[in-house]
Amino acid sequence: MEAMRLDETVFKKLRDFIYERTGIYISDSKKYLLENRLQRRILERGFRGYEEYLYFIQYSGEEAELKRFFDAVTTNETYFFREPQHFDILFEHIVPEIKKSGRERYRIWSAGCSTGEEPYTISILFKEMNMTNPFNVDITGTDLNETVLETAKRGIYSSYSVRNVPRTYLKKYFKENGVSYHLDDRIKKMVRFQKVNLVDEFEMNRFRNYDIIFCRNVLIYFDDKAKKKVVSLLYDALRPGGYLFVGASESLHNITRAFKPLVINKTVVYKRG
Ligand SMILES: C[S@@+](CC[C@H](N)C(=O)[O-])C[C@H]1O[C@@H](n2cnc3c(N)ncnc32)[C@H](O)[C@@H]1O
Repeated sequence: MEAMRLDETVFKKLRDFIYERTGIYISDSKKYLLENRLQRRILERGFRGYEEYLYFIQYSGEEAELKRFFDAVTTNETYFFREPQHFDILFEHIVPEIKKSGRERYRIWSAGCSTGEEPYTISILFKEMNMTNPFNVDITGTDLNETVLETAKRGIYSSYSVRNVPRTYLKKYFKENGVSYHLDDRIKKMVRFQKVNLVDEFEMNRFRNYDIIFCRNVLIYFDDKAKKKVVSLLYDALRPGGYLFVGASESLHNITRAFKPLVINKTVVYKRG
C-alpha cells in the first residue's frame, strides 16, 4: 500500500484546527506522528486523503468522528506512582497543612488524567490512611479523550502500567489474572471521571474550590499561549492557598506570576496566593 502524503498546506490546516480546539501544538518535527496516527483512520473510513478527512471533521457535525480524531492526536502515556515525589509532598506537607487548618475535606483534581493511574494512585494512598469517606476525600479525574476515560472507569491495567506499584499495594489492591491487573472496586469508587477540555472556558468554569490540582505532563503539548490560558483557568479552579502540581520536566516560569513557586524536597510546587 502506498503511504498517503500529508502536504505542507494541509498539515498546517490540521495543526491549526487541533490547536484551536485542544491547545495542543504539533511542531514541524512531529508532522510524521500526525501522519501516522491519522492514516489508519482515513483508510478505514475510505477518505481520499487528509484534506478530505479534515473537511469532514470540521463540517459534517459527526461527533463520533471528532472524538476519534481527538483520540488520535492526544498522547496518553501514564502509569501508577509516576513522579512519586509529588505524592510524598501531598501526604507529608499538604494533607497535614489542610488538617491543621481544621478542615477535614480534600478536593483533588487530576486534570488530563488519561487512563486513570494518577487519580487512582492518590486514592490508594488515601485508602492507606483509612481516609475513604467520599465527603472527606473527593477525587475527580478528567480528560479530553473519552476512550482513555472509558479505560479508566474499567480499571484494568497492563503489567507496564503497574510496574512502579509497591508490591504490598499490588497484592492488596489489584487482582492479577496472568495478563492484566484488575483494580479493587474500593479504590475505583473513590474517583469520578468526566470529559473536560482544559482550553474550554465554559467547561472549566464549573470547576471551583479545589485544594489540589495535578496537571502533570499535559501542558508540555501546548504552546505558551495555551499554557497561559489553561494555567489561569486552573488558578481560578483552586481555592486560595491551593496547590498545583505540573510534571517534573515542566515549568511555569514565564507562564504565570499568579502562583507562588515553592520548593519542597527539591521539587517545585505551585501555590495559589
Ligand atoms: C501524557 S498524558 C498525562 C497523564 C497523567 N497526568 C500523567 O502525568 O501520567 C496527557 C493527557 O492530557 C490529555 N489532554 C491533552 N490535551 C487536553 C485538553 N485540551 N484537555 C484535556 N485533556 C487534554 C491527553 O488526552 C492525555 O490523556
